[in-house]
Amino acid sequence: MTETTTIRLSDAQVAAFHRDGFLAIEQLTTADEIAAMREVYDRLFGRRDGFDKGDHLELSELDDEGRETLPQILSPDKYAPELASTLARRNALALARQLLGPEAEHSGDHAIMKPPGLGAPTPWHQDEAYWNPAVLHTALSIWMPLQEATVENGCMHFVPGSHVRDVVPHHLASADAHALEVDSSELVADEVACPIPAGGATIHHCRTVHYAGPNVSTTPRRAYIMGFHGQHRPLPVARDFSWQRPEWTE
Ligand code: NI
Repeated sequence: MTETTTIRLSDAQVAAFHRDGFLAIEQLTTADEIAAMREVYDRLFGRRDGFDKGDHLELSELDDEGRETLPQILSPDKYAPELASTLARRNALALARQLLGPEAEHSGDHAIMKPPGLGAPTPWHQDEAYWNPAVLHTALSIWMPLQEATVENGCMHFVPGSHVRDVVPHHLASADAHALEVDSSELVADEVACPIPAGGATIHHCRTVHYAGPNVSTTPRRAYIMGFHGQHRPLPVARDFSWQRPEWTE
């Protein structure tokens, strides 16, 4: 297996990430690899792999006919090990080390699919709101669509500069969903949408407020998300993340 990477951020891109809390890049991997990953992805969602182990979750709510509207698979590489040795993963790690420091490591993948026509929005949130409140996290996610991501099919949206805040108050988006949502809608007034081509990616810091719209197109919106962490700093007093369910704490 080759360890080759094919990407490096410019100084201007690194500066933009630290200023805005997010960055869009045009090409993380090849069209061939995207096509191969798309096949694996559709197989995993089609077979409901990981459902028994709690790794296949509904982030929103089933529709009136019992269909999933925002299914997520945690650690899809557990069910399809070839996902751990992609060029996309190697390039993503290289980018994470440029942005977080050479000690940055891969922390886990997940996949969020929005079915055509009924794919629900992913509520506005900060990723760190899901994590251990006793630790200040240094982390980012690299979000790669396996087809073009458009405003119509549910591309990512970000609030520029929101990563410099601490974690803001969140609540569960609905009683039987697993998704968190920020309490204040004022926070998201200055948001920007980030449509990107297949094989491109967006990178966001763990405190950047972000959202993905509903899928009102006629094809699935497949997102493959790779997480990376740098050095974590234990806090003297844990923050109050009262919206978390006890079983979430990592
Ligand atoms: Ni997120």
